[in-house]
Amino acid sequence: MYQTIKTDLTEGILTITINRPDKLNALNKDVIEELGKALDEVYENEAIRSAIITGEGTKAFVAGADITEFTDLDANGGSLLAQKGQDLVFSKIENAPKPIIAAVNGFALGGGCELAMACHFRTASETAKFGQPEVNLGLIPGYGGTQRLVQLIGKGKAMELLITADMIKADEAARLGLVNHVFAPKNLLSSTRDILLKIQTKAPLAVGKIIALVNEAATASLSGLSNEIKAFGECFGTEDKKEGTAAFLEKRAAVFSGR
Ligand code: COA
Repeated sequence: MYQTIKTDLTEGILTITINRPDKLNALNKDVIEELGKALDEVYENEAIRSAIITGEGTKAFVAGADITEFTDLDANGGSLLAQKGQDLVFSKIENAPKPIIAAVNGFALGGGCELAMACHFRTASETAKFGQPEVNLGLIPGYGGTQRLVQLIGKGKAMELLITADMIKADEAARLGLVNHVFAPKNLLSSTRDILLKIQTKAPLAVGKIIALVNEAATASLSGLSNEIKAFGECFGTEDKKEGTAAFLEKRAAVFSGR
């Protein structure tokens, strides 16, 4: 069905693999469009409980937007490219009601680092490398990098990485909070799946609301507190709340229905 990505649905986890290893999985128009369609599946298909985004091969997660598509773009074309990517993919990932983890298996540069940062959190292989090298091309990040890197690692370090184009290794990315866990390359996908399988035992509606509220906190919006009160109240009207509290009181494991 897809030409530039591969998808696999196992145990409720949709693994989306960007599949242009000869071009270090660079994000061209086709990848953006196909990622957009796969994300629509994540939103719409009830059998999908969570997702992983990763890259084919051991060398790259995604080495950036496809630079060969930049040559003919003027100012308007550049803005349209960024807007389209953000609408079809990056914002859709961030706002997804189901958890999406980036499993970073190699270079995550430019749009690749931005793709990882749009995910709800990140795991990385010991060989992964992160960076925003756009200034090397006379450009700036266009898929949210100037905003999400600040949110994730703080202003000073984000500023340095963005304006030096320095690359950092997985262990430093973990120290800075850019990635949550670093795994041996052979364990990256299985260990990431284990995290999602654990999340999948939790109440799906509550998980979805937490994703939205944590996103709101990360953008320092004051409406986050009032929206939290509203969402907290909504949880009290769900079957899952009845089941979760009853299971606790009956000293048994809860079985959530997502209603
Ligand atoms: N866009 C388009 N093609 C890319 C690409 C990108 N962002 N990144 C890598 N490729 C292509 C290379 O052109 C090369 O293609 P070719 O075999 O047809 O020549 C292939 O992927 C392999 O990359 P190569 O540069 O030969 O690998 P390397 O090991 O020498 O270097 C990198 C790896 C990641 C350091 C280097 O590819 C690089 O700097 N890429 C661009 C990173 C970047 O600036 N990203 C931000 C874009 S806004």
